[in-house]
Amino acid sequence: MHFATILYTLSILLLCAFAAPVEKRQETVSNVKCTSNTALDFHTTNVALLQICGGIAGTIEKCQGRPTSTTGQSGNVRFTITPVIEGDQINISKGRWEQGIKAAFAVCGEDIPFTATFTGGAVKGDVNVVYESV
Ligand SMILES: *[C@@H]1O[C@H](CO)[C@@H](O)[C@H](O)[C@H]1NC(C)=O
Repeated sequence: MHFATILYTLSILLLCAFAAPVEKRQETVSNVKCTSNTALDFHTTNVALLQICGGIAGTIEKCQGRPTSTTGQSGNVRFTITPVIEGDQINISKGRWEQGIKAAFAVCGEDIPFTATFTGGAVKGDVNVVYESV
């Protein structure tokens, strides 16, 4: 084998090693800002996150009706979703929504309030998400 061929093979292997984890994660988040040091209630949070778009609990697998903004609230815990592109319609699946929240918690800590941008949660673009105590 030529040295160049070996280098080429190695670089392809390296590329695959870096590309693989990115492909597995459907949802990516950016602009994550942690907005409090105090964790919100775990159970209330789990209820609130299923209240977006009029409810995505049980067999409902995605945001229904493509609203232009939505909130999910339980007790003092509120999630707010607003499209980055004005007038865009929210069209996020439950899987992506939960993955995005997990990714933000991975940055800030479990149940720590945040603001973040979730990639591709709307028809044309991304969505801004606020998780807060009200
Ligand atoms: C909404 O999202 C689903 C995937 O969950 C996709 O198949 C569909 O094309 C999207 N609708 C619009 C109008 O973007």
